[in-house]
Amino acid sequence: MSKSPNFLIPAAGGAALILGVGYGVATNQYTSSKLDVMELQVEQAQTAATDAKAVAEAEVARAAEMEAKANEVQEAARIALASAGGGSVSEPAPLSDGYGLGRLALPEEIAAWDVDVLPDGRGLPEGSGNAFDGEEIFAEKCGSCHGDFGEGVDNWPVLAGGFDTLADEDPVKTVGSYWPHLSTVYDYIYRSMPFGQAGTLTPDETYAIVAYILYSNDLIDDEFELSHENFGEFEMYNANGFVIDDRPELEYSQWRAEPCMENCKEEVQVTMRSVFLVETPPEGGSNSVMNHARDEALPSFTSSGASFIPASTAPAQEVATAAPAEEAPTEADQGVDLIAAGEKAFKKCSACHKIGDGAKNGVGPHLNALMGRPIGGIEGFKYSNVFQAAADEGRVWDEESLAAFLAKPKEYFKGTKMSFAGFKKEEDLVAIIAYLREVGG
Ligand code: HEC
Ligand code: HEC
Repeated sequence: MSKSPNFLIPAAGGAALILGVGYGVATNQYTSSKLDVMELQVEQAQTAATDAKAVAEAEVARAAEMEAKANEVQEAARIALASAGGGSVSEPAPLSDGYGLGRLALPEEIAAWDVDVLPDGRGLPEGSGNAFDGEEIFAEKCGSCHGDFGEGVDNWPVLAGGFDTLADEDPVKTVGSYWPHLSTVYDYIYRSMPFGQAGTLTPDETYAIVAYILYSNDLIDDEFELSHENFGEFEMYNANGFVIDDRPELEYSQWRAEPCMENCKEEVQVTMRSVFLVETPPEGGSNSVMNHARDEALPSFTSSGASFIPASTAPAQEVATAAPAEEAPTEADQGVDLIAAGEKAFKKCSACHKIGDGAKNGVGPHLNALMGRPIGGIEGFKYSNVFQAAADEGRVWDEESLAAFLAKPKEYFKGTKMSFAGFKKEEDLVAIIAYLREVGG
């Protein structure tokens, strides 16, 4: 524990007094008024010294309290380590000097963290293992997730194979095909595997497992004995597949030039967005579709800045001037308006449903020729049980059932897998049905 607070008390008080006296000696020409001033100054210095002493004493008391606490923690840690390791444990190092906080870490604590291994093999613990022994350990501790040969079970990572696929659209990045340094394999496994039981492997087990993974990748034969001694010499398949990132030296300086602000577009509009609805179907493939649910809130960027005002909340005044009063709309106009409103409403469906020429099934079935179409009747689409039941009953879609379904899908067909809350407004229902008829036929 630091003794500095104790040492500070005389130092602070003393310094103040010396300053006061020193001033007097230096000026040397005493008039009584000057003496008065000096007296006052000495007094002030003394008060300051007393204050400083009180503060320092409080500090000392606090420090003593903290030291006691630190000792307690240290002792607890020592006992915990002793009972965990069972072996001899170093005496805790004294608290570091300076601020009087914390304590030096025990060598055992440092050793427990200091497990990193460098590409040249520095940091490896002594030990060895071969693929033959590794196979058994791997099957027992790793195979349930990574497969007996590192081929990966379900979606757990694949550890073997995938050579020469890195430039493909769908590269298979494994320890064999991708990892540039063997040290990472050792380090990663020793530090974090088996998943959920990290830190349970011994160095020899880890060497054997690493050897087995190399063997599964056809990089060694099963008798090769991997050890801390020959580890650094092992060259991985993709050792040269990584480059040093030299952009800070080569490129950053070029980007610091004044930005070009000429010939800018008047207005830039966001036409797409990176928000996709993704469903990975169990049969494979992927149904990634644009999420149109929030189209209204798309920002547009003009020379005066970005605007996030959704169309529906644009100031009423603007809307009024934008749409000058006209004669009462004709019936034909109303029909067109209805279809347009339906098209807008369909944005709530289009993430999952396609409609129109050549429409295919997506997350939901295509919606062509819906009226009179058997409910749950699209061949090849996997409907929920409740839809299948309706299909078995031979029910068909009509305006009434469709309106009821789209108002409250989950209530109308309990157990449907269609995730849509339903239309609250009657006019949306009317519009969407008109649209489905018009576009889907
Ligand atoms: C319970 C399942 C499970 C077990 C058992 C398991 N792992 Fe893993 N392993 C994982 C998961 C999950 C990841 C991916 C972790 C991540 O990316 O954060 C992984 C990642 C890895 C990776 C890195 C793969 C890569 O390309 O990124 C290696 C190597 C690995 N495990 C080796 C092992 C070894 C060796 C064992 C046995 C000692 C083992 N694992 C046991 C689930 C498991
Ligand atoms: C998040 C995806 C999703 C959205 C959004 C969605 N649906 Fe669906 N829809 C489905 C799925 C999935 C089914 C199949 C339901 C089942 O099997 O339970 C379905 C079924 C249907 C059916 C029955 C088709 C048949 O073959 O019987 C109709 C009609 C329908 N949806 C119309 C709509 C309309 C109109 C909207 C927009 C207002 C909409 N859906 C929004 C996923 C969706």
